[in-house]
Amino acid sequence: MNIVLIGFRCAGKTSVGQTLASRLHRPFIDCDEYIEKKTGLSIREIFEIAGEQYFRLLEGDALSEMAKLDGRVIATGGGAALRYKTMKNLKRNGIIIHLEANLDSVLARLQADVKSRTRRPSLTEKDPREEIREQLDLRRPYYQSAAEFVVHTDEKPVDVIVGEITEYLKTKGLSSTPEGDQGRGGDDGDEAVA
Ligand code: S3P
Repeated sequence: MNIVLIGFRCAGKTSVGQTLASRLHRPFIDCDEYIEKKTGLSIREIFEIAGEQYFRLLEGDALSEMAKLDGRVIATGGGAALRYKTMKNLKRNGIIIHLEANLDSVLARLQADVKSRTRRPSLTEKDPREEIREQLDLRRPYYQSAAEFVVHTDEKPVDVIVGEITEYLKTKGLSSTPEGDQGRGGDDGDEAVA
């Protein structure tokens, strides 16, 4: 069984994922980093050279590969939940957790995060606050329908968020190590819905 973190940009998927993985003694995979290693390009370069739609194909392929793995903690990119079949595949063998963050937290973290310059190309030509407001509204239903557990991350340290997730995992009978987890198995192909 994998543990899959979804949520908007700067919701804490990577930092929470790393800490959660080390606490659970599981390997951690960050989807954006995986794509960057595979292509030798930064996410921003992929957007600039080939466009967002091409990035979405690479992202869908990467997540389909990850859905076949087991015992991992996986941090997805902020747009991954828009792909219904990707989420369905990940769900078969994974617990999908939504890290929720509000507009002000996302904006503050985005502006403070140096990785943003290479990792997070603008999705629209709008002013950042407007873009975040619009994209959060658009994506919220996708995050909500994909996830079985939601953690509110605003003004919470990583350790507290990780603690809430591990408590939830205990209720699902998930051990602190991947051995013994029961997989749900299977692959459903991939298809974008947005
Ligand atoms: C994206 C979020 C980014 C990255 C890409 C697109 C998005 O990941 O996948 O820039 O559409 O929200 P993070 O959520 O890790 O910032």
